Amino acid sequence: MKYSRVCNSLEDTKKLAQDFAGLIENGCFVNLYGEIGAGKTAFVKLVAEALGVTEKVTSPSFVILNEYHSAKLPVYHFDLYRLENEGVKTIADELREYSEGKNITFVEWAEFSQNEIPFNHLKINVTYNDDDARIYEFEPSGKGFDYIIEGLEKC
Ligand SMILES: Nc1ncnc2c1ncn2[C@@H]1O[C@H](COP(=O)(O)OP(=O)(O)OP(=O)(O)O)[C@@H](O)[C@H]1O
Ligand SMILES: [Mg+2]
Repeated sequence: MKYSRVCNSLEDTKKLAQDFAGLIENGCFVNLYGEIGAGKTAFVKLVAEALGVTEKVTSPSFVILNEYHSAKLPVYHFDLYRLENEGVKTIADELREYSEGKNITFVEWAEFSQNEIPFNHLKINVTYNDDDARIYEFEPSGKGFDYIIEGLEKC
């Protein structure tokens, strides 16, 4: 099961983020894949805003984890880029804990997570060219997030 949407502008990505936010009110664990500048942080920021996060959402690439507590559910935003494969092993327990709680967790640079994210999650792959068009592809890994794909198909 897969869903993909072409977003030709940041405004389109905002609409996608709003559609997605409407489907994850019970929590979700999201692995984001895609090159530097693809639009991972931009998407998380727009989803967080749609969820009602009032704090400024910034990239966690230097701090590894940002958290926001102003929306209905806590929003956790990881960036594994600086940890690389070895470092990710040291936070494996935290990643699992966040996957079990009722919250919304995003992991940028999930490429570095290797075997550290074996539990159910949703994968989002972002691809782009040089202009403002981005393709966001959604695919559940394991059980439990098929309803998000179905929901996006209906939007
Ligand atoms: N349609 C679009 N959707 C998302 N972002 C877009 C779009 N068009 C242009 N952009 C711009 O592309 C850039 C994406 O940067 P962003 O920081 O989100 O990338 P990233 O995937 O998080 O990269 P990194 O790996 O460095 O963390 C932003 O400056 C954003 O404004
Ligand atoms: Mg980023």
